[in-house]
Amino acid sequence: MDLQPHRFPASATPVADLLDTIRRKRTKDIDWRRGRAFCLIYHPGDEREHAIKQVFDQYYADNALNPTATPSLAELESEAVSMCADLFHADADACGNITTGGTESILLAVKTARDWAGKNKPHIKRAHAVVPESVHPAFMKAFQIMEVDYTAVKVGGDYRADVAAMERAIRPETILLVGSAPSYPFGVIDPIADIAALAQQRGLLCHVDACIGGFMLPFLSDIGYDVPAFDFRVAGVTSLSADIHKYGYSPKGASVILYRSHDLRRHQFSLYTKWAGGIYASPTITGTRAGGNIAGAWAALRTIGREGYVEMAKATMAATEQLKQAAADIPELKLMGRPDMSIVTVQSDQIDVYMLADELNKKGWHFERQQLPPSLHFTVNYIHRDIMPEFIADLKSCIATVRDQRLAQLGNKLQTSVVKGLSKILPDGAIARLQKNSTPDINNENKAAMYGMMGALSGTDDLEQIVLDFLDTIYTAKPE
Ligand SMILES: Cc1ncc(COP(=O)(O)O)c(C=O)c1O
Repeated sequence: MDLQPHRFPASATPVADLLDTIRRKRTKDIDWRRGRAFCLIYHPGDEREHAIKQVFDQYYADNALNPTATPSLAELESEAVSMCADLFHADADACGNITTGGTESILLAVKTARDWAGKNKPHIKRAHAVVPESVHPAFMKAFQIMEVDYTAVKVGGDYRADVAAMERAIRPETILLVGSAPSYPFGVIDPIADIAALAQQRGLLCHVDACIGGFMLPFLSDIGYDVPAFDFRVAGVTSLSADIHKYGYSPKGASVILYRSHDLRRHQFSLYTKWAGGIYASPTITGTRAGGNIAGAWAALRTIGREGYVEMAKATMAATEQLKQAAADIPELKLMGRPDMSIVTVQSDQIDVYMLADELNKKGWHFERQQLPPSLHFTVNYIHRDIMPEFIADLKSCIATVRDQRLAQLGNKLQTSVVKGLSKILPDGAIARLQKNSTPDINNENKAAMYGMMGALSGTDDLEQIVLDFLDTIYTAKPE
C-alpha cells in the first residue's frame, strides 16, 4: 500500500518553521498586496485592515451556532444585517443573516423560495426558476442542491437580462425570477425594476444578486453616477444578497442575505426537533458558524462607514475610468457592454486575448480569462488606485508582443482546430481520456493553448471530464 505523501505530525513544529514554509509556498501566489491582481481580493488599505483584524481576533475561536452561548455574536450579526437593510432601503420588517459568502446567500435564497412555494403553492411538485444566463454559477449549484429546475435565458445585445424572454420562459411551476446588480461576467445591471414588476404581476418571488455590486452601487449614487434602483425601493424585490467580503472589504467569509419580510425568512431556517442531542436549529447552511467572520463583517461596516466607502468608491472609479479609456484607445481591444461600475471586460477580434493574458501573467498581473466569447475580466477595487498607469503601460507592451506572434498564434489555432475536429469524430469522453495525463497545469505560464482548447470543447462532456480531473489533481497532496 502506498503511503500518503504527508504523514500525520508526530510532534509540534515551531511556529517560525511554519511561517518559513508559508513564506516559501506563498511565492507561488498572486501578488495582490501590490495591486497586481484584478480578481478574488478586495483590500481596504493596511490601516483599515489592522482595525478590522483586531475585532476579528476577539472571536477567533468562537462559534455563532448557538446564540444563547454567544449572545454578543447574535447581536453583532443582527446589527450588521440591520445596517445592510438600511443601506438597501428596506423597511423595519426586513431581516436576514450573515453567511459565509455569495454562494451560501444564494443557496439560502433558493431554499427559501422553494420552501415558500411548498407552503403557498402546494400544487407545484418541482419548482422552477427563470434566470438570465449571465447569473453567477452559484445559482446553478443552488438549483442542483435544492432540486429546483431552471431556465437560463439569453441576455440582450447589451448583455443585460432580456425581460421579455424571461417572461416567455415562465411556466406554471415557476416560483422565482433573478436579476444581477451587476452580473459578474459583464459588470452590467439587469433591468431589476422590470424583472421585479413581472414577478409581482405573476405572484413570484424576485431575488436580486447584488453580491458583487451591493457595496459599490449605493456609494456610486452618492458621487453622482446614474445608478438605477436595484434594491428594496423596487416593489416586487423579495430578497437580495450582497457580499461584505467583496466591496464591503471585510475578511473573507461574509455576505448578507436579506428578505423583505420575516414571514419569508422563516423558510430559510433548518430545524430538527427529534434529535437525542437536543433541539437543533440552524439559521444558515453551515452548522458551526465562524464568529470571527461575523465580527469582522460588523467591524468593516463600522470602521469604514459611508464616508470611507464613498472615498474608496471614488478612488476605485478613477482607476476604472483609466482602464476603460485605455480599452477605448487601444485599437486591438474592445470593451464588452457598458460597465455600470468597476468591472471591466475586454475582447478582441484582432489578437488572441488568451495570449495577451499569458504575456501579462509573465509580468506578474492576474485577472480572469472568460469564454463565450474569449475575453479578459478585470475587477478593479481600492487597491488599484495608484497602479493603473503601470498596468496600462504593460498592457500596451504586451499587445505589441502578441501582435508579433503570428506564428505561435497559428500553432494555437491549429491545436484548437485539431481538438475541434477530433471532438466531432471521437466518442464522448475520448478527448478527456486522451488528456488524462496532461491535466491543465495552472502554474504553467503558457495557458493560451489550454484555454483555446477548452473553448473548442465548451459545453461538452469532454471538457467536464478534463475539469473534474483538474479539481481532483489540484486537491490531492503532493510530496514536498
Ligand atoms: C454576482 C455574483 N454572485 C455570486 C457570487 C458568488 O460569491 P462567493 O464566491 O462569495 O460565493 C459572485 C462571486 O464573484 C458574484 O460576482
